[in-house]
Amino acid sequence: MKSKTPDLSAEEIINLLPSEPGIIGKKIFFFDSLVSTNTLAMELASNGCEEGTVIISDEQTGGKGRLGRSWVSPPQKNLYLSMVLRPHIPPRDAAILTLMSAVACTHAVKNVSGIPVSIKWPNDMIVSNKKLGGILTEVKTDRDSINHAIIGVGININPDISELDENIRTIATSVMIETGTRHSRTLFAVEILKEINKWYKTLIGKGKKPILAEWLRLSSTIGRTVQVHEAKNKFTGIAEGIDNEGMLILKLGNGSHKKICTGDVTILP
Ligand code: BTN
Repeated sequence: MKSKTPDLSAEEIINLLPSEPGIIGKKIFFFDSLVSTNTLAMELASNGCEEGTVIISDEQTGGKGRLGRSWVSPPQKNLYLSMVLRPHIPPRDAAILTLMSAVACTHAVKNVSGIPVSIKWPNDMIVSNKKLGGILTEVKTDRDSINHAIIGVGININPDISELDENIRTIATSVMIETGTRHSRTLFAVEILKEINKWYKTLIGKGKKPILAEWLRLSSTIGRTVQVHEAKNKFTGIAEGIDNEGMLILKLGNGSHKKICTGDVTILP
């Protein structure tokens, strides 16, 4: 299906991907509007679709963010895409998929736009201290294996400041705001699929180590004093690193260490 806006075209995405696309992007489904690309990808995966299936939508009416939040997803401006992975890794390693995707998307955005993106734990793409994009990983496990994982990527591409939802205007940014020009969402989609292909292959072939190392290189969290909201708790400390499972290691004021599994990080000045 053709998008109403020429800067996002399913045909062009398919034409611009290598003829042997690798794992990701062998099948791409494109929609003008969906409730959530992650929700549809989860349904397709549960019904046995091929690994690497990609869903892209011009708009989402019920876009989902991390920690049960919503993801504002107006039409004609941004990128909303999800893909189905079927990695042979234990469920306890699922967080590496999120870190791998953050590494891949950060490279993709840098490659297309040149803007200096960094990663805030675990998977926020940050520019000028504001959020450019995020990743929602949803996993379906079968006892001790992952049946499928959905990686959902949302990136603000072409809204100017007045077009950002007013609830996020002070904390979010877009490629347009950072560069002053409009960009082709097609090119971002292609680059994201290529980079995820590359880093997913690295994960499968070489394991977690190169992903963790690259995540640390791109991170703007490690070494900083941060405040973390984890469920109803709030901790302040120095973000010292991540462990092998991708948990954030926080050094608290009393010298003890705390591992954070899920939560929201604010980098303190
Ligand atoms: C976050 O909260 O940082 C994660 C946001 C993830 C948003 C993307 S948009 C495409 C995919 N579909 C969804 O409903 N959510 C993800």
